[in-house]
Amino acid sequence: MPITKRKLVARLDTAEPLKLRHRVMQNKLAAIILAAGVGKRMRSRLPKVLHSCCGLPLISHAVRLALARKCNPIVVVISPQGEKVKETLIKLFPQTNLKFAVQSKPYGTGDATAVGLEALKNYTGNIFITYGDVPLLTSATVARLERAVKKASLALLTAELADPKGYGRVVRSGTLAQRIVEDKDANVSEQAICEINAGAYVVNAALLRKALKGLSPSNAQGELYLTDIIPIAAAAGGAVPVKIADFAEACGVNNRAELASAEAVLQQRLIALHQKNGVTFRNPQNTVIGFDVTLAADVEIGVGVQLYGKIKIGRGSRINGPTIIRDTFIAENVQIESFCHIENAHIAAGARIGPFARLRPGADVGADAHVGNFVEIKKASLGKGAKANHFTYLGDTTVGPKVNIGAGTITCNYDGKNKHPTSIGKGAFIGSNSTLVAPLEIGDGAYIAAGSTITQKVPADTLAFGRARQQNREGYANTLRKRIANQKGKK
Ligand code: UD1
Ligand code: MG
Repeated sequence: MPITKRKLVARLDTAEPLKLRHRVMQNKLAAIILAAGVGKRMRSRLPKVLHSCCGLPLISHAVRLALARKCNPIVVVISPQGEKVKETLIKLFPQTNLKFAVQSKPYGTGDATAVGLEALKNYTGNIFITYGDVPLLTSATVARLERAVKKASLALLTAELADPKGYGRVVRSGTLAQRIVEDKDANVSEQAICEINAGAYVVNAALLRKALKGLSPSNAQGELYLTDIIPIAAAAGGAVPVKIADFAEACGVNNRAELASAEAVLQQRLIALHQKNGVTFRNPQNTVIGFDVTLAADVEIGVGVQLYGKIKIGRGSRINGPTIIRDTFIAENVQIESFCHIENAHIAAGARIGPFARLRPGADVGADAHVGNFVEIKKASLGKGAKANHFTYLGDTTVGPKVNIGAGTITCNYDGKNKHPTSIGKGAFIGSNSTLVAPLEIGDGAYIAAGSTITQKVPADTLAFGRARQQNREGYANTLRKRIANQKGKK
């Protein structure tokens, strides 16, 4: 039977997410993700943090990072216009303990964090604070912050920049941070400091609660600065700066150019990971690959391949580009030729697809089956070794094993109102240019003469004709030619 979307998702699921969930449950770290900013520079109707970055909304990278660090719960601070952000994240992370806190008006990072903290009322332990528009921060870096905070009450991420303008500067006392001064509040000597606050922190919850109460808006921006908690932490148990070598990791996305750069970095990281696992990319710069793509060793990805959503590709399979694949399972040793469009499909081992094939949702291609050029398959299964090699539409159809579908065969599954099924039994032969009017049953081993229009059931091993009979008139071609020559035609 054609594969349903639900079955496909079940097949794509592995045991790994379960293990991950289990680990998340044991976590002692919570997270607050600040995302109540407006994001004006994107010039978009869509909230900035919902713009796609490597196949996922920008903000989901911060959530994934918090999950990788086993944070529980994860609080996202949104603006009153952030309902869509909330909906998107709930859909994307249904198993995650996500909480949402609404900051009624933008009153600074300190205020946003305080709003987030209200959602963590009885929480004790450490809190990881990050921004919703920083997609490149790595789990290893957050782990450094977690280790550093063990000997202090706060750890903050810093970086050395040749041009630190615009960022908060870290004022140190030896190996510890004393305070942070924002660019707009800094005097000349403070402006000369090149160590900047990268904007990620791990801090003890009790200390954060206490410190946020003491913030005041007496600064250049008239806002509550989260950075003003540093002196309080410094006095309590120490604030440790954790310096990263490459600031690119902590870069925020504010406009479309920065979005493209961040996406390129994420693509490179993903591809490097697959390469390590034995996957060949013919042209990595020309490949689009999402986070939910699982590739076995010896998979080969050609030039211009785009892999979106949840995809699994088995060992030895080869995808030639340009080809677009979305939410699909591909078994071992499958060959996909150029210019294919494949969505919500299941392709068994050894099958050959394309070039120029379109597999729509519910396409289920059996082992060693062939789907050739200009063939469209929707909610239809092809049995083992079946072939539909040229110019064909199969919709709502079950094709048995070893069936041959001739060039130009069309299933007429739609009567203008309803869709109707067609079933073709094993070993049947469908002659070229056949029109199969559904609902229709064609038995095992049946034979449909080329050019037929078939409207009635064809029993097993039966030859069916559904076309006008040919008549030959010997010598009549000459008669016809003379008649045409004698006609007075326009010159
Ligand atoms: C902040 C830091 C600065 C640091 C820089 C690094 C403060 C006061 N300053 O400055 O030291 O060098 O990040 O990138 O924290 N947000 C809210 N609500 C608000 C204000 C901000 O949710 O009322 C969110 C924004 O959506 C954003 C994040 O907080 O995700 C940071 O805000 P932003 O205004 O960009 O802070 P910066 O001025 O860049
Ligand atoms: Mg900023």
